[in-house]
Amino acid sequence: MSQFTYQNGELHAEGVPLSRIAAAVGTPAYVYSQTAMADAYGRFAGALADADLNARVCYALKANSNLAVIRVLAALGAGADVVSGGELERALAAGIAGPDIVFSGVGKTADEMRAAIQADIGQFNVESVPELERLSDVASAMSAGVDIAVRVNPDVDADTHHKISTGRHHDKFGIDIDRALDVYAHAASLPGVDPVAVAVHIGSQLTDMQPFRDAFARVAVLVRELRTAGHDIRKLDLGGGLGIDYGQHEPPDPADYAGVVAETVGDLGCELVFEPGRYLAGPAGVLLTEVIYVKDAETRAFAIIDAAMNDLMRPALYDARHEFMPLKEASDGPQTTYDIVGPVCETADTFATDRQLPTLAAGELLVIRDTGAYGAVMASGYNSRPLIAEVLVHGDQFAVVRSRQEIATILAQETLADWQS
Ligand code: LLP
Repeated sequence: MSQFTYQNGELHAEGVPLSRIAAAVGTPAYVYSQTAMADAYGRFAGALADADLNARVCYALKANSNLAVIRVLAALGAGADVVSGGELERALAAGIAGPDIVFSGVGKTADEMRAAIQADIGQFNVESVPELERLSDVASAMSAGVDIAVRVNPDVDADTHHKISTGRHHDKFGIDIDRALDVYAHAASLPGVDPVAVAVHIGSQLTDMQPFRDAFARVAVLVRELRTAGHDIRKLDLGGGLGIDYGQHEPPDPADYAGVVAETVGDLGCELVFEPGRYLAGPAGVLLTEVIYVKDAETRAFAIIDAAMNDLMRPALYDARHEFMPLKEASDGPQTTYDIVGPVCETADTFATDRQLPTLAAGELLVIRDTGAYGAVMASGYNSRPLIAEVLVHGDQFAVVRSRQEIATILAQETLADWQS
């Protein structure tokens, strides 16, 4: 059930009218429902438990790394999947213990490796031979030993947007599954690293189960081969990727996903790690925005809103579709077809074209739905637009969990060169 519903004709987040948040915090602002995140976590972890899988959920912080959001999921038992030193610090600051953290990503630096080893993280997912050798050097120099997974590239097309597909032969991620046996043999010969796991992640926003089935089946074959070769593979990291409904798909059912996992790798006796991001955070967030102007051009009507591509990149970057909801429930009033655009000076700053909405006027409030994942985290300061506020709702309470950035703070970080004074 969505936590963004009309009550007495007014759109609410849980028990809070969004108009109240707009009045208190201003727009644009991201608003997250704690209950929606908890519900999604319950569905995901519950489906894995129902399928009798020995599973650990490590929330992919990249989807939404606000400390309060991480804390919501940590309190439910989630660990973390991080991809940078910054995300590592966030996970630790939100109260996730080092051993519950997995470090993914193709370009970990030696400094990031050292910080993660100091934090005693649970596992490194290694994506190349040079990275493996660097990690071995760093760990040995610290007299440490770290558990690693090699992230394999299974050459499976995830059938999602090509920019978020990661498991095809030519993608930059992972090590070709056909080379994996050699790489594990090499890893086993190196000091400081212990290859105990296999990792795979084929892409994001998957709505069809077949690519998961294909990838996991290939991984199962590999695990058997690795064991035959003498490697003690105890863990499998199956990545993230479960998609959500952006208004066009039936949302995939975590029970189907868990079924595919059980069918393909359930009999290997491995501890399983999952790294969901979007599924947990996406539907739990909206971007609250105000119409600045309605502009009637010759061929179309533009609704110009105060959110822009710098606040929410997904439509500009992936042509992603997001649904809009006005704060006032639509009655049977007139409808108009709009292009919904932001104030940034490029045509890419378009959230939707030819979208039918109840006729809008300047000053009206809207939300852009399903923006809890890959929204705030991908924002930039383009056009000197400050990063916007983030708000967490719980029942009838709300709290600002990131304040709106001040222009003065941005300017304070810049200085003239000394020859300019
Ligand atoms: N694990 C790894 C290694 C990943 O690369 C990702 C996402 C995840 C887990 C989490 O995937 P999820 O469960 O959220 O699908 N900015 C894009 C999505 C990029 C996903 C990158 N990797 C978007 O807005 O659609």
